Amino acid sequence: MERLDKILASQGTSSRKDVKEIIKSGRVAVNGKTVRDSSFKISENDTVSLDGKELILKKHIYLMLNKPAGVVSASDSKSEKTVVDLVPEKLFRSGLFPAGRLDKDTVGFVLITDDGDFAHRILSPKNHIVKTYEARLDRPLSKEQLELIQNGIMLSDGTVCLESRVKILENGDNPLVKIQICEGKYHQIKRMFAAAGNKVISLKRTKMGNLNLDESLKPGECREITPEELLKIELGKIFSDFEQ
Ligand code: URA
Repeated sequence: MERLDKILASQGTSSRKDVKEIIKSGRVAVNGKTVRDSSFKISENDTVSLDGKELILKKHIYLMLNKPAGVVSASDSKSEKTVVDLVPEKLFRSGLFPAGRLDKDTVGFVLITDDGDFAHRILSPKNHIVKTYEARLDRPLSKEQLELIQNGIMLSDGTVCLESRVKILENGDNPLVKIQICEGKYHQIKRMFAAAGNKVISLKRTKMGNLNLDESLKPGECREITPEELLKIELGKIFSDFEQ
């Protein structure tokens, strides 16, 4: 059950304030009956109409956030700012959570949704959805280190990672590399480079599946993901979609 004004505002066409006015003026009906109370609670099976025309309400919302550093990947925290705190009011609804975590100091693409099934599908290691990162390293990356990481490196606690792909984007003392992995173990990328004898000094997630981070989003900004883009995430699977 969710408030009528919240549901209507989260469709993305009007602000919460405008929605309240529209409801007050008697233009909105739930199951055919006019409702003037913004706090009226509706459930999934209710039909909502505006000026007599039934609205197709989006059941779930999917957001792309360009996560800044210093924000935690959680829904709520007593002491720290969370990724969900960054969702603007007009896109906010209850039940939002990040589908996959980035470390506090990692920046880039975080998907925020209220759709648990979708989150499960893209996060399940069984589905092998590729996540792409750019990592700045503390020292030059040797050929041996690169191969160890690509072939499925063993982490310090004995965990063995699946294959990954690494491409050097910038050479030098602090190379910039692109790395693609298809699982999401705790601190995985930092631990993979550490196990190979290198060190990640900064990390950005640039892509989930086949969907790139929208670089027009400034750090801290988010926007809705379109249905076509959602499909791009789910279709970006291991091997065929590793970039060369
Ligand atoms: N791997 C890490 O080490 N950190 C992240 O935030 C994401 C992947």
